[in-house]
Order: sequence, then structure tokens, then C-alpha cells
Amino acid sequence: MKKSIKTFLKHSSKDYLNRSANPAVVRASTIYFKSIQEMQQHQKNLLKNISKGKEIAFYDYGRGGSQTSIALQKILNELEQSYHVFLTQTGFAAVALAIMSICRPGDEILISDCVYRPTQKITNQLLNEFNIKTVWYNPNSFDDLKSKVTKKTKLIYVENPGSNSFEFQDLGKIVNLAKKKKIFSAIDNTWATAYFFKPIKFGFDLSITSATKYYSGHSDVMAGSLAVSKKVYKKVWWYYHISGYRLSADDAYLIIRGLRTLDLRMEKHQKNTMEVIKWMSKQKKIAKILYPYKTSSKEYKLWKKYYSGASGLLGIIVKSKIKSSVYKFINSLELFGIGYSWGGYSSLAVYNHETEMGKRRYFKLSKNQHLLRLHIGLEDPKDIINDLKRSLRFIK
Ligand SMILES: Cc1ncc(COP(=O)(O)O)c(C=O)c1O
Repeated sequence: MKKSIKTFLKHSSKDYLNRSANPAVVRASTIYFKSIQEMQQHQKNLLKNISKGKEIAFYDYGRGGSQTSIALQKILNELEQSYHVFLTQTGFAAVALAIMSICRPGDEILISDCVYRPTQKITNQLLNEFNIKTVWYNPNSFDDLKSKVTKKTKLIYVENPGSNSFEFQDLGKIVNLAKKKKIFSAIDNTWATAYFFKPIKFGFDLSITSATKYYSGHSDVMAGSLAVSKKVYKKVWWYYHISGYRLSADDAYLIIRGLRTLDLRMEKHQKNTMEVIKWMSKQKKIAKILYPYKTSSKEYKLWKKYYSGASGLLGIIVKSKIKSSVYKFINSLELFGIGYSWGGYSSLAVYNHETEMGKRRYFKLSKNQHLLRLHIGLEDPKDIINDLKRSLRFIK
């Protein structure tokens, strides 16, 4: 029987052997074999299966993973509709894995100006030391991207929407260009997750998700997922294997547990966010909301064209001559925690200082504008609105 992804997330990875609704946490460095012959045969089969991207039942050493991480890989592969999924210890490790698997000295990486700050550092600082040139393009202009493609461009790297600034790009045009020019393409899809957008199915070669965020959903575990196309699978496997990336069985288990309710949480984050935005859009103190909600906006049109939903992370721009009053607004919120790593069940708020955005060439705030990032959690939206209402009055 063909099942929807919502049902699949509830029914996958049951452990019928141990009569348990969830898979066992298999912690192992040593993996036992019955004989040297069995070990050698298994290693031969492993290499054959790995080279063909086939499912692995168990590895020959713990660094490859255990039954628990294999179970998670299977779930994510189905969710992503990808060729294979690699697991990493953090989301940022998945960013590094994607870039380092593809780029080599002499190459250029064409990257949107709006990426997550540590991603900017990897490219600008680390890659630079290895003679890999970073070329920044304007996320608001496909023509700018197109004009910067050279014979050396090896990878187009997109984060959609932009980190903190929430620009939406024309993903279809980017993927078509990459294919035409035989350039690899990567996207950081953490905001939407593969529940709302499936990059590999769409045509990207590498799809990064910080599983720390919505896949975990409970703000208590860090992990990353890199889904890949067949085209890049061997390159990524090689780099993954020799650089020691791995996700622990305990963390893999927690991500599986989070994924059981991914669909419910994503739908609710979206619903709550729309309710909060309906209220926020009427507040004079909020000059702009960075979220695809206005049907006439370019962002909405680009989002609607490619995504089946939107998550709970957004930006707001407020205007004030008194920065401390904006701080007071955030400090006074009761339901919003002040902290990073969104995607958990509760609401969060941070003030985006320029240093947190990294160097931006195409995003500027005007005088007295302040950019705040809100994560709308799963609380009762009426309470979230009341909390914002109560604190907004502090902005002077
Ligand atoms: C868009 C995006 N990608 C990747 C990461 C890195 O994920 P992690 O914190 O799991 O290393 C983050 C973290 O905030 C992020 O916002």
C-alpha cells in the first residue's frame, strides 16, 4: 500500500525484533563477526554496496554508523526523495561536507550573499587558503548570478530564504542554469525542510538541513543531514569517509523521535506564524515583516512557485532612534526565549547585530532600523500575540 509521508513518518523504523515502537539505540565502535571469513566477505559486500549507493544493513566499524543511524538515513532518504543521505554531527558539518566534497584548488564557488555567517567564513576564509575563489552574487538578481558564472565555477551554493534577511530566489532558474552549464548545485534547505520543499527531486545535487532545527524539534540535540543526487554521491562518500564525519546513535535516535511529528509541527508552526503575522502586519511599530505572506510580493510569488509550506522563522524590521528600547522589547517578552537555534517547539527572539549577518553586500538597513529574528513556536497563538502586544509598547 502506498503511504503518504505523514504515515511513513509514524510507521517507519519500528523494531519488531525487540517488540518496540522505536528502533534500538545501537552504540558500537566494535562490530562483531563470527569469523575472519565472514568479516572479509562483509567488507567486500560493503564496498560493492557503497559504490552502488545501495542500502547497508550494518557496517564493519562504528564510524560508518550503526543500525540506529542507518534507520535515520532511510527515513530522511524517503523524506528527501534523494539518492542517499549522509549524517553529520551538526548542521554546519553538513554545510562543510557539501562544499569540501565538491570544491578543489583552482575552482570557483558562486554563492549567494545571504548565506548563514559560518558558511560565509568557510568560503571566504578557509577556501581562500586553498586557492578556491568565492564569488558572491546578489540573491535578488538571477541576472547577477548568471553574469558571474565562469569556466571555473564548480558549485552554485544557495541558501533559501536568506539567513536573517529572508530573500527568496528563483530556484527553477538556478537549477536550470547549473544543469546547462554542468555546474553542481547545493542548497541550505533548513528553513523549509524537505517536508515543504524537496531539493534533490527538484534538481539540486546537494541538500543541506540542520537537523538540529525542525527535524529534532525539541531544542536538545544537534545533527545535520546532507541529501545528495546520484551525480555527486561518490564524491561526497569519499570525502565523508576520509574526514571522519559521523552522527552518534543517541543523537540519531532523538532525531528519529522528532521526525515522528515533523508534519504536525511544521503545519502548526506555519499556522501560528500566519496568525501572528496577521496581527503584526497591523502594528505601526513594525515597519516590515520578512516572510512570504503578502500575495502581491515578489517573495510570496517565488515561495509559492516552489514550496508547499512555510516554517515558523521570520524577520521583522522595527524603526526606533533608541536601540535600548528595542532591546527592552525583546527582554520583556515572556514566551520568547532569547537564544539561537530555532526549529524547537517554543518561540525565540534575537536582535540581529550586523556582526551576526556577516559581511553583506546586497542587504542594508536604513538609519534607525533594527532587524529582529523571531521563531514562532507551538504555543497558543493568542498567547504569543498577547506577549508581543505587551512588549511592543516599550519600543520608543
Ligand atoms: C540555515 C542554517 N544552516 C545551517 C546551520 C547550522 O546548523 P547547526 O547549528 O546544527 O550546526 C544553521 C544554524 O543556525 C542555520 O541557521
